[in-house]
Amino acid sequence: MSRPPDRPSTTVYLYELAWILPSIAIPVGMLAALTVTAFGAGVHLPTVEGRIVPTQVSQTAPFDAPGLRQVGPGRYEVVLTSQIWAFAPNEIRVPAGSTVTFVATSKDVVHGLLIPRAHVNVMLLPGQIARVAARFETPGEYPMLCHEYCGIAHHTMWGKVIVEPAS
Ligand code: CUA
Repeated sequence: MSRPPDRPSTTVYLYELAWILPSIAIPVGMLAALTVTAFGAGVHLPTVEGRIVPTQVSQTAPFDAPGLRQVGPGRYEVVLTSQIWAFAPNEIRVPAGSTVTFVATSKDVVHGLLIPRAHVNVMLLPGQIARVAARFETPGEYPMLCHEYCGIAHHTMWGKVIVEPAS
């Protein structure tokens, strides 16, 4: 008299399935999110906007004249330099509803430009030029922080964007 062959337990099978399905669904979901944000929302890694000799930033246009300038109706460009431990310019004033493009680089070590309320987050690397645009809709002060450790007074390296009510 022989025993009937063992049949796989349905419980074990379902348990395996409960692990296998998420392990497929999660990467597929991440890939979908990546595709949507990259091609739909235009979120991408900053590319090299240009290169610059870091020791010659002050003599190289446009960084020889840092500051804010209007480039169109409601559109501004800030040429921004960073060095231990300050941004130049340190304070930027624009009317509400402005789109501001930051063109920035470092004169010495690695710094960062973080404007949390405006979704600006870019590294400022010596030798490279960064370009990032942000829209400022709501009047108020937007702190502009260095978020890459750049030495003993890193924590003092900050400025602000002041958004004034549109007239
Ligand atoms: Cu500059 Cu931290």
